[in-house]
Amino acid sequence: MLLNNRTVVVVGGSSGIGYATAELAKAEGATVIVASRPGERLRSAAERLGVRAIEADVTSDASVENLCRECGTVDHVAVTAAQLRSGPFKQLSIEDAKATMESKFWGAWRVAKHASIAPGGSLTIVSGFVSVRPRPGAAIVGAANGALEPLARGLALELAPVRVNAVSPGIIDTPIRAAMPEDARKAMLAQTAAGLPVKRVGLGEDIARQILAFMTIGFMTGSVVYVDGGGLIV
Ligand SMILES: NC(=O)c1ccc[n+]([C@@H]2O[C@H](COP(=O)([O-])OP(=O)(O)OC[C@H]3O[C@@H](n4cnc5c(N)ncnc54)[C@H](OP(=O)(O)O)[C@@H]3O)[C@@H](O)[C@H]2O)c1
Repeated sequence: MLLNNRTVVVVGGSSGIGYATAELAKAEGATVIVASRPGERLRSAAERLGVRAIEADVTSDASVENLCRECGTVDHVAVTAAQLRSGPFKQLSIEDAKATMESKFWGAWRVAKHASIAPGGSLTIVSGFVSVRPRPGAAIVGAANGALEPLARGLALELAPVRVNAVSPGIIDTPIRAAMPEDARKAMLAQTAAGLPVKRVGLGEDIARQILAFMTIGFMTGSVVYVDGGGLIV
């Protein structure tokens, strides 16, 4: 198995892409730790996965420091945690825009700063293809994603020999859209799928497999990989 005797921490492992990453890493033999905010979602995910859970909020320095202390030195870290607030630019409050940056950009920054990763191990950051394929109502999300990609490249130099990469997902069917009315969510996903060359939206596992590739291909660092079903070329 690809990750035998390796420890993998998934920050944001209670749901979606992070959950799929934890599941795949465990299936490949890793000892997995999932982290996210305190609550039932984290408890139940850890139970279903059969892995250790550590409560952590990426918007808090102290909480991320505590997480990294509890984990000790590990082999691989993936940061999928984010709670995004977006909306039409003129209507979105500056507080909501800042909250998106706090969670998505500064959250990844904090984990990168405090994590202790063994030489040759990896850190994976998740951005998102609206950084290069903008859509109305998502300018702040695009900006946060866009900032994460040069962060990954810069850290690949500064944190070497730890390897740092970013994956940029297209539209992935995860609980991230749980707040949308179910009919509207299904219609949006179906319309997106119809417009893509692959004729489907992504699954958490599609992105998890890329994250596992970053972990296990020791020649990958400073890479940004778009996994979007062809979303960038249509
Ligand atoms: N799904 C897509 O279409 C898509 C597309 C492009 C990019 N992405 C990006 O991919 C990443 C994962 O998204 P997803 O679709 O897997 O979303 P998701 O299913 O909503 O999962 C988000 C995860 O983040 C955790 N989280 C949220 N705020 C947190 C905080 N302050 N501290 C710690 N953990 C926190 C949540 O756990 P708790 O609630 O338990 O804290 C959950 O585990 C995000 O960065 C997202 O922007 C997703």
